[in-house]
Amino acid sequence: MTAATRPDATTLPRLLGGMGTEVDLRPLERHLAHHGDLPIVVDPGRPDQALLDEVRASGLGGRGGAMFPASRKVDAVLSQRGRPVVVINGAEGEPPSRKDHVLMRGAPHLIIDGAVVCAALVGAREATIALEQSARREHRALEEALRERAAWGHDDGIDIHLETVPDGFVVGEERSLIDALNGGPGKPTHAPPRPFEKGLGGAPTHVQNAETAAQLALIARHGAGWFRSLGTDQEPGSALVTLSGAVARPGVYEIPIGASLHDLLVAAGGLAAPVQAYLIGGYIGTWISAREAEGLVLSNAALRPLGASLGARAIVALPETACGVAETARVAGYMADQSAGQCGPCVLGLDAIAGGMERIAHGDGSQLADIQRWLGLVAGRGECRHPDGAAKLVASALTVFEDEIARHVHARKCTGDGTSVLPIPRDSRTGRRA
Ligand SMILES: Cc1cc2nc3c(=O)[nH]c(=O)nc-3n(C[C@H](O)[C@H](O)[C@H](O)COP(=O)(O)O)c2cc1C
Ligand code: SF4
Repeated sequence: MTAATRPDATTLPRLLGGMGTEVDLRPLERHLAHHGDLPIVVDPGRPDQALLDEVRASGLGGRGGAMFPASRKVDAVLSQRGRPVVVINGAEGEPPSRKDHVLMRGAPHLIIDGAVVCAALVGAREATIALEQSARREHRALEEALRERAAWGHDDGIDIHLETVPDGFVVGEERSLIDALNGGPGKPTHAPPRPFEKGLGGAPTHVQNAETAAQLALIARHGAGWFRSLGTDQEPGSALVTLSGAVARPGVYEIPIGASLHDLLVAAGGLAAPVQAYLIGGYIGTWISAREAEGLVLSNAALRPLGASLGARAIVALPETACGVAETARVAGYMADQSAGQCGPCVLGLDAIAGGMERIAHGDGSQLADIQRWLGLVAGRGECRHPDGAAKLVASALTVFEDEIARHVHARKCTGDGTSVLPIPRDSRTGRRA
């Protein structure tokens, strides 16, 4: 039995604690020394009600993007007949996001503990951790951690499998993920049934993002009160942010939800160059001008009036030397390529929008009005929310980069120096990362 000191509730980092060059949390011994034992025993077939009460009290929202309450997901699975299973979503298809990869690579035992907690919550006997094919280092870290637990005779009380799914933006959507794990092409299946009704192997499936699983592993250890002592009342806890672009030290940072963008930038060593806008929430996110971002608070409640949300919390600082129009056109093209190709408005709409943005980037504004119209036609019209997200990003660009668009179209001028800031995976069609 290892009892690590209970970390001070108000101290960060929590999830990233102990990681880094000075300490390596990959060995089980160090993981246990840092975090302590997981104080739960899985009883397959018997959901842990006390643990569920704690998770409900914690108010934990899913960290995969939508912040859906974790306890309500458990309730949904428990409302079904049949033996449930757990899937931990480690796909992380957002190109500017690396937080799940960093966690899986640096603290694999915490992710595995999270899978065990999910199993205890729904009374499952098995859990699957799903990763993209290209996430080889993360796969190795988790594989090694599982091997080490077995060698130590560490009994998790459930079977834990590692599975790979194809790379791509949409594969991480939970119905795509289940489809891929079930041997399908990895496209969002028609709903209902949803995964909690009929998911992996036809079983009621509790799907939780990798960071959410790690948060659950900490809540099981330290309780709801500890968890809630950071963050806001409505959005409690800490969260991982992937910060990139014109900052001195790009990387994954842990913040209390409700922290200011300014404090995050200070933690990252400040700006590396003057910034014109921030992309908040990754490629299904929203552009916010540097002026609007002054005093910006990083919570969904604070971002809502700006039409934005934290999403998977990928934030990119766009330097003044880059062209927001060209950057948006590149991302729109990528998002069109990433359509799973099965809903007309998504396939045709995203392609047309991307083509129109590409024209504007080259000084041709003839489709500007059409783009506005097409944006209204794709949102809410697909089987999944991929087109909604892409449309939201382009719509925000039309406002935030209005002056730059006018310069392109009327003066055939671009203030950018050709710098590309937003990452596009090497093979845009498959989403495979470089
Ligand atoms: C287009 C699209 C892509 C998504 N990609 C991911 C992803 O890569 N990783 C992830 O965890 N969730 C992703 N999600 C969200 C999942 O569908 C699901 O809500 C999430 O994995 C559930 O975990 P959570 O409740 O812990 O956040 C995506 C959703 C959409 C609409
Ligand atoms: S909306 Fe687009 S990405 Fe989603 S299922 Fe339909 S075609 Fe695929």
